[in-house]
Amino acid sequence: MRSLLFVPGDDEKKIAKGLGSGADALILDLEDSVAASRKAIAREIVLNALKAGGAPGQKLVVRVNALGSGLIEADLDGVVAGKPDAIMLPKCEGGVDLQHAASHIAVREAENELPDGAITIVAIATETPLAIFRLGSIPGASRRLSGLTWGAEDLASAIGAETNRAGGLLTEPFRLARNLALYAAHAAEVTAIDSVYTDFRNDAGLKAECEEARRDGFTAKMAIHPAQVPVINAVFTPDVAALEHAKRVIQAFKDNPDAGVVGIDGKMIDKPHLVQAERLMARAKAAGLGV
Ligand code: COA
Ligand code: MG
Repeated sequence: MRSLLFVPGDDEKKIAKGLGSGADALILDLEDSVAASRKAIAREIVLNALKAGGAPGQKLVVRVNALGSGLIEADLDGVVAGKPDAIMLPKCEGGVDLQHAASHIAVREAENELPDGAITIVAIATETPLAIFRLGSIPGASRRLSGLTWGAEDLASAIGAETNRAGGLLTEPFRLARNLALYAAHAAEVTAIDSVYTDFRNDAGLKAECEEARRDGFTAKMAIHPAQVPVINAVFTPDVAALEHAKRVIQAFKDNPDAGVVGIDGKMIDKPHLVQAERLMARAKAAGLGV
């Protein structure tokens, strides 16, 4: 999974457009992009979209309202019958929230005769100040967790920050959130998903941010506009040169089964490089590249 496109859950036109966007996943939103007066109709529209299914290979994720909103149970009652691939949990404050959400989902799976664990959770785990301090409680909290991402918009409003970017780049408090989320995702061994880039007409800025995310260990990014999807997919698809290098690393250790360290092109290659090469090959296979 490389790209996840947000679509307001009450907007049938945008949902239709999302299906043809090439996004690896659509995030059908019931939270911030849907007005309070439209929550009920959005649940119905999202359920219909789930029943119709995504484009071939496309996953459907539903972002529900947060645990403290008083809306999450009705959201889940409304959409679990459509068997979403995942529920996105906003404002997740650590492992305890994850377990609460997981139990809400488990009950609805049983009610709908779905297998236990069929629906995974993608957590947005940095949207409140407390959430930052609880990131360390996420790894191991729930086997449902399949992805972890972070958010800068709600966090900025929660701490009264005037902005979360300066000159297009994240400011310190938000870079910290991003970086901690990256470590939390890897500690939990789930997909590390970078947050949205809201300046949706700025493709160059988006590409630069995607490349930075890939460089640092994110393997996916969320989008808010269909035009962002091809940019994200291109950056997060393992490229030919990287795959060739990975193959050489794997081959070098096969050829030297007793070696702990080898040299390739004048650089030292040891266990961490082998793990990274194998991980890249696995991602390429998952992306359907014939490797
Ligand atoms: N998913 C699917 N289609 C989308 C889309 C999205 N996220 N964003 C825009 N589109 C569609 C528009 O409906 C429009 O379709 P049309 O040509 O058939 O009329 C086309 O893409 C071009 O849209 P554009 O005019 O460039 O943007 P806009 O001003 O209509 O919309 C936003 C701008 C930000 C309101 C819109 O991109 C959006 O709703 N994004 C998602 C917001 C969201 O879910 N936020 C929550 C998470 S942060
Ligand atoms: Mg939000």
